[in-house]
Amino acid sequence: MFASCGRGRRGYHEAVASAEFWDAQAAEFDEQPDHGLRDPMVRAAWAGLLVQVLPPSPARVADLGCGTGSLSILMAEAGHRVSGLDISPAMVALAQAKVAGAGYPADLSVGGAALPPWEPGSFDVVLARHVLWAMEDPDGALTRWLQLLAPGGRLVLVEGRWWTGAGMTAGEVAKLVLRHRSEVQVTALDDSAYWGNPIRDERFVVVSHR
Ligand SMILES: C[S@@+](CC[C@H](N)C(=O)[O-])C[C@H]1O[C@@H](n2cnc3c(N)ncnc32)[C@H](O)[C@@H]1O
Repeated sequence: MFASCGRGRRGYHEAVASAEFWDAQAAEFDEQPDHGLRDPMVRAAWAGLLVQVLPPSPARVADLGCGTGSLSILMAEAGHRVSGLDISPAMVALAQAKVAGAGYPADLSVGGAALPPWEPGSFDVVLARHVLWAMEDPDGALTRWLQLLAPGGRLVLVEGRWWTGAGMTAGEVAKLVLRHRSEVQVTALDDSAYWGNPIRDERFVVVSHR
């Protein structure tokens, strides 16, 4: 995962919140096992996790910061109605090509997750993997993400505090979610099957039902 470079917190967040930063990552993004899900073992691990954390299909899922669409495609394959959004045109172009090749429908578009262009209450699930940490105002973003949920909807956040120093701890994410919700479940994702390699840092999924 991306290093917390020497620009200071503000400069670093300006960088990772920009389309240019992610456009520059796009061509090689899927080379990471957990990004491209090219290894069948890694792909199966994420497919299995999604079965655990998502409601039965078909659910309306917002995949915020969908990147190259790997999770969008897994969820579409599982029968969910997926809308993906990403600030990087290069990421979305790759994601749309992958969706076309996979043959499962998913509606992926370019846009900022700080203010998603969707109606409040229009999703059963808001999912974001490795995106909250990159938002300039995580609490403000979370407020708007939760407004997208229909009553009874669920929030699923995959995050980590990587060995590079970038990211958020499980405690930080849970505390943020509990500013808005009454319940949160944190599950460690320390099985190397998710990452294609053994890990030595903190990676987890946070699910909140209410
Ligand atoms: C680490 S990647 C994760 C991509 C994807 N969620 C995955 O797990 O494969 C972070 C993604 O968030 C996107 N992103 C960062 N800031 C964003 C913002 N403000 N609005 C929408 N997307 C954003 C980036 O373009 C990038 O595709």
